Amino acid sequence: MAIASKRGSAAAAAVLLAVARLHAAEPTAPQDPAPDGERIYQTNCATCHGRDGTGEPGKRLYSIEMPDFADCSFVTREPDADFFAVAHEGGLVRAFSPIMPAYGQVLGEDGIRAALAYLRLFCTDTRWPRGELNLPRAQFTEKAYPEDEAAITVDANANRERDVRVKLLYEKRIGPKSQIELGLPFRARDQSPAGGTSGGVGDVSVGVKHVLTHSLERGNILSAGAEVVFPSGDEDDGLGKGTTVFEPYLAAAQIFAGDGFLQVQLLGEIPVDRDRADVEVQGRAALGWSFAQDSGFGRVFTPMIEFIGTGGLPRAGANTFDADLVPQLQMTLSRRQHLMLSAGVRIPLTRTGSRPTRVVAYLLWDWFDGGLFEGW
Ligand code: HEC
Repeated sequence: MAIASKRGSAAAAAVLLAVARLHAAEPTAPQDPAPDGERIYQTNCATCHGRDGTGEPGKRLYSIEMPDFADCSFVTREPDADFFAVAHEGGLVRAFSPIMPAYGQVLGEDGIRAALAYLRLFCTDTRWPRGELNLPRAQFTEKAYPEDEAAITVDANANRERDVRVKLLYEKRIGPKSQIELGLPFRARDQSPAGGTSGGVGDVSVGVKHVLTHSLERGNILSAGAEVVFPSGDEDDGLGKGTTVFEPYLAAAQIFAGDGFLQVQLLGEIPVDRDRADVEVQGRAALGWSFAQDSGFGRVFTPMIEFIGTGGLPRAGANTFDADLVPQLQMTLSRRQHLMLSAGVRIPLTRTGSRPTRVVAYLLWDWFDGGLFEGW
């Protein structure tokens, strides 16, 4: 009896299994499998970009120089949004060669994203921070991201008294996490009470920056840097401080969902000769949001609001505190998005009698992404 019942339950189980299999074989609600990035890449992209992402120099179909997706120095600095735009719309959307086809209709968004996720695997060195963390440059708050950039900045009195400061900036990446920076300032202003205009070179600066930690998943980056400002400007003409100033700083950025961000910088100004200049501590923060025209593929506008708080620690007398607000707008100029223009106003919130409102602007060139006359 016991055996028979065991057999009976075994048979019942077999029947149940068979029924279950039948059910499983029945078509169920369609469930899209995740697109296979490797297959999509190897069937669609490899003919031109190479099975290994390098563009396989030597085996090229076209005489054009192909991007090397295995070169971390190039591929990590490009954010997914830019690669997506090129893959979706074709090369012309970022003023690349029209040989790069548009895959928006063929692969759909998910297919392109899968191919790009696979393309990201060609660079295996995780030391390089991703381009998403390279946020739009604020007027005063230093970026945490190490960049290959050149800029010309203008800072001018908004009232009648003429006082214009122009600065040439050059930044160059060194390896995955570091950057050097050179600054060459000029100033021209009305000489009161004598009258006339005086001007010349100000205090030139040399700086270094190094990334301490970064994560695309967390959406943040933290760097430490330092600048040395040399007394090359004539102190009597108000062009310089007359002493070498050491400026250590920390710079950080956090990305928010939907292209928002906060950038923060904390810096000190420590003059070598305390008789000529005071020690200062400055906190800078820029909150911004980016919008792209043409369904996210076109010109990018980034309004920002920046706050600057400056604490002076004079040797004699009371400590001072000044605060400024700098509303500003940055926009990309070229289709490559490697030339950007930004303008704003620096509005003093304290000691408004002696500190006029200033107009600030810059023209920025990401020279790694293309020449000045390329990419339009
Ligand atoms: C017919 C050849 C061809 C095919 C196929 C092709 N590409 Fe391209 N791709 C190019 C060319 C050419 C360029 C632009 C080179 C230039 O102008 O610098 C390019 C550029 C790119 C860039 C821009 C790189 C940069 O410099 O910012 C990305 C991203 C890209 N391709 C992704 C893909 C993906 C993903 C696929 C497959 C879904 C694909 N490509 C298929 C030829 C091709």
